[in-house]
Amino acid sequence: MESIVIQQPNKLCIEQRPLPLPEPGDVRIKVKIAGICGSDSHIYRGHNPFAQYPRVIGHEFYGIIDAVGESVENKRAGERVVVDPVISCGVCYPCTVGKPNVCTSLTVLGVHRDGGFSEYVTVPESNVYCIPDSISDRQAVMVEPFTIAANVTGQVAPTENDIALIYGAGPMGLTTVQALKGVYQVKTVIVVDRIDARLAMAKACGADETMNNARRSLAEYLAQKGIRPTLIIDAACHPTILSEAIGLASPAARIVIMGFSSDPCQIIQQGITGKELTIFSSRLNAHKFPTVIEWMQNKLIDPDKLITHQFDYRQVIDAITLFETDQQSCCKVLLTFSA
Ligand code: NAI
Ligand code: MN
Ligand code: ZN
Repeated sequence: MESIVIQQPNKLCIEQRPLPLPEPGDVRIKVKIAGICGSDSHIYRGHNPFAQYPRVIGHEFYGIIDAVGESVENKRAGERVVVDPVISCGVCYPCTVGKPNVCTSLTVLGVHRDGGFSEYVTVPESNVYCIPDSISDRQAVMVEPFTIAANVTGQVAPTENDIALIYGAGPMGLTTVQALKGVYQVKTVIVVDRIDARLAMAKACGADETMNNARRSLAEYLAQKGIRPTLIIDAACHPTILSEAIGLASPAARIVIMGFSSDPCQIIQQGITGKELTIFSSRLNAHKFPTVIEWMQNKLIDPDKLITHQFDYRQVIDAITLFETDQQSCCKVLLTFSA
């Protein structure tokens, strides 16, 4: 079989590898489609502190089970499936409080262990979720990105009366917009980005208002409208955003951060305590695959709106390069591994 391997930073090869045999408890998946994520690009470019090399990247993928290992009871060859990339121990403190996404021995497919940019991959049965017929192949590959939004929104219990402000209209911001509008019916969702084409996508995903903060001040824009957001989600993840968000938030608002910047950011306690704000963080997903599959089945979200390109996996370098250099036209870029 062929696998996309990052041998070391900036060195991507398509390698011939032996077809893996599923270990006990594992299933083997013939990958059909995978999605490119920012973190794949970060591993490729040597910017992911958790990555070890060589690594088969890819944590967003859909395929068909083609073999099962010993003691696999609930999965069969021929089933259409997606895979939760979060592998956790189930017994440590975070696992026992419902946060396997920050398990003390966390293993993420495509980061800590070989992932899905491969013609075949073996994974633990317990990470595999069946896809109903009403969800297409291309939609199925989008389940994982929406689990990030499900994790973010699941922390803050959005209500219809919220006024939500989302920073960033990349895949993460857009999945969150769709969840807030389609699942939670939040009354007002405002999206801020510096790229007009992305703001247009945010509108298409259901945003009520968009504004370009490269051209004018967000604070002035909100003040003019008399808006104080009750829920702020930072899906742009620049280290300066949190302090701005604290200033703009309504008293009693919730803020969610999801960035991994290691640069310091300056925040003032009074700004938080004075309004009794709650600040959440969100990483990966905590068992959100069933939730998102249900959202898709019930058509509460529309993953097709995020997909802008699809390439054969042999064109992976072109695909990643386009993804990295053209944020105007690219949102989710898919790779086809088999028909
Ligand atoms: P992306 O790079 O495609 O989108 C980010 C968007 O934010 C871009 O459209 C950019 O123009 C905009 N932006 C940047 N600075 C801004 C600012 N100051 N104000 C307004 N907009 C601004 O990235 P993607 O894939 O949507 O991911 C977003 C962030 O979420 C990344 O930083 C990524 O590391 C993080 N992330 C976190 C995850 C988690 O589980 N915590 C999972 C996946 C991504
Ligand atoms: Mn991803
Ligand atoms: Zn654990």
